[in-house]
Amino acid sequence: MHRQERIEALVTAMTLDEKIGQLTMSSAPDIVTGPLAEADLAHEVREGAVGSLLNLVGRDAIRSMQDVAVRESRLGIPLLFGLDVVHGYRTVLPVPLGECAAMNPELWEATARFAAREASAEGIDVTFAPMIDVCRDPRWGRVVECPGEDPWLASLYARAKVRGFQGAGASPGADALGATAKHLGGYGAVMAGLDYGPADVSARAMAEVYLPSFRAAVEAGVAAVMPSFIDLSGVPATANRALLTETLRGAWGFEGAIISDYGAVAELIPHGVAADLTEAAALALNAGVDIDMMGGAYRAGLPGAIARGLVTMDAVDAAVRRVLRLKARLGLLDDPWIRLAGASPSSAPDPATALSAAVLSPVLLKNGGLLPLSPEGGPVVLAGPLAGTSPEPIGPWTGLRQFAGPTGLAECLQPLLAGREVKLVAGDDPAAVAAAAGGTGTIVLCLGETYELSGEAASRAEPVLPAGQEDFARSVLALGRPVVVLLWSGRPLVATPILQAADAVLAAWLPCHGSGEAIAALLSGAEEPTGRLPLSWPASVGQIPVFFGHRPTGRPYAGGAPFTTRYLDAPLDPLYPFGHGLGYATIEVEAVSVLPAIAGPRDAITVTAAVRNTGGRDGAATLFLFIRDRVASIARPVLELRGLRRVALRAGTRGHEVFTLHPGDLAFPDHSLTPVLEPGEFDVFVGLSADPSRMAGTILRERSAGSA
Ligand code: NOJ
Repeated sequence: MHRQERIEALVTAMTLDEKIGQLTMSSAPDIVTGPLAEADLAHEVREGAVGSLLNLVGRDAIRSMQDVAVRESRLGIPLLFGLDVVHGYRTVLPVPLGECAAMNPELWEATARFAAREASAEGIDVTFAPMIDVCRDPRWGRVVECPGEDPWLASLYARAKVRGFQGAGASPGADALGATAKHLGGYGAVMAGLDYGPADVSARAMAEVYLPSFRAAVEAGVAAVMPSFIDLSGVPATANRALLTETLRGAWGFEGAIISDYGAVAELIPHGVAADLTEAAALALNAGVDIDMMGGAYRAGLPGAIARGLVTMDAVDAAVRRVLRLKARLGLLDDPWIRLAGASPSSAPDPATALSAAVLSPVLLKNGGLLPLSPEGGPVVLAGPLAGTSPEPIGPWTGLRQFAGPTGLAECLQPLLAGREVKLVAGDDPAAVAAAAGGTGTIVLCLGETYELSGEAASRAEPVLPAGQEDFARSVLALGRPVVVLLWSGRPLVATPILQAADAVLAAWLPCHGSGEAIAALLSGAEEPTGRLPLSWPASVGQIPVFFGHRPTGRPYAGGAPFTTRYLDAPLDPLYPFGHGLGYATIEVEAVSVLPAIAGPRDAITVTAAVRNTGGRDGAATLFLFIRDRVASIARPVLELRGLRRVALRAGTRGHEVFTLHPGDLAFPDHSLTPVLEPGEFDVFVGLSADPSRMAGTILRERSAGSA
């Protein structure tokens, strides 16, 4: 029978309870990602009361649960198995914020492909990734999962991740996963960075900042979308018909399934928009949510909602069809064991693959010439609370949450610095550090956050060094020895005095498999640091949110003059801007030109940046293309990112890098939020970061359709 006919036949054959079962996703207790309820899952599956499971892991467990669904339930509809494979399944890959710092779409796609292979080989069908919430607030713990502050970058990341997870074909094959774009939308704008808190986001900010990455994921063919938990300007995303049905399905043409976040349908009650589960179920289903993840709300509430006329059977059937179509797209209707057909995969992580990603993510924030560490000289002392031999390779969302086997930094560094002794002084005793360093040592001060300080439900009002670390760092800095700060964290940490006092600072994000080797290679100069900040690094907590794409003010900053935009007690700029990151080579952008310099509304524009390696070391740099629309009917941000390129240059040589700007890159949402390209002058900049002093620019004139 043809797929569509099979789906129709199933819908016709189903009882209401079986339909609600297909709309219900329950969690196994293997991995805990939210409040768990006691349940006999096999019984639920046999009864057709559940259509998909999350957090069940292991080939045998998945195979036997699928056997129950296919062989023992009345209609034999296969289950779908979902898991958060966000930055790896078995092999722990860099956390998304860190991987974003690599500014490398090929890498983003390759790591998703790799994780999809590992997870699908163990029977997982769908990942709840990519997380593509733009976020400008490092207080929010989930900033670690996100692609940073910029909507253009987040869109690039979204496309790469969807391609990577789902594979190149129209449908995810046996070695691929259905991807879930999450969390639509505005989750990164939660007030004061408080997880689960409300976000009050204007329609313009949604259109310009928070929605583009989701649209990009839809255009890339993402299989599923997950609305955020949160209240969005009074209408929780899970109950937001305008967002889920009118925009996502209507305007964007999304044909996949909408999967609620964990318990989010039932949470419409504490949100204050539903009196009971019946109302909650009706609100979510009518908004467009197909699958109720762990809420039990559809099961408990939909029968009453139908009886009370709050929900039509047509709406239920439409949701069931979408779920069955998702299962068909994943190949499950044709072969329920499609992802278990191959041989059992290795049960060990693959550190070589992790290493190639791990080496690209750390960001060298500062270098007074201390790095790379010289191969000869006094001891190198790895010191501090995070200097342990095996920092746990963990971020908040690896599929299996198995973390064994990272190689410690000290043992990785020693062979690369054969002429120096590498010593380890874990803990926070400055006297022990002083004794180890003696009069000739260099200190690598290992500070920052452990993994549990970021992720879901891990917001910090003060995203600073954890208690005691600042005092310890001051004591070590006071020894007067050269100090590299090696900073582990799931977010930019506000630690300005310490970072300013150190001779060099390497932001390493959170450890993953391969971190020891990667950091050693970067510190020793065996590898060039290539990471660039995907979000601005605040100088003080009070500046948050600080980001490059803000709108201009009527009284711009003027060196601190009165009655201008400034803080009395803090700088206006972040400590390190978006895009910042040093290498060991010194590359500069010398000039930028555009062709044609006067463009018509349909012209593609070639932007050429002349670059030069001014130093004595071969190397590479990331170039960012920014525009600024000088005068428009809606004020435009002072900088908008439109391009990204990696350029490699030999020592002392010059080169050119070419970008293309398409007319759509110059457009913006007009008063009715419809894209418009207005004639006028645009600044076009190419730079090494969003710091105006590290870019060169020119002017592009855009003429109207009629003018010559
Ligand atoms: C809650 C999180 O918000 C979401 O990102 C995740 O996919 C689900 N739990 C499932 O674990």
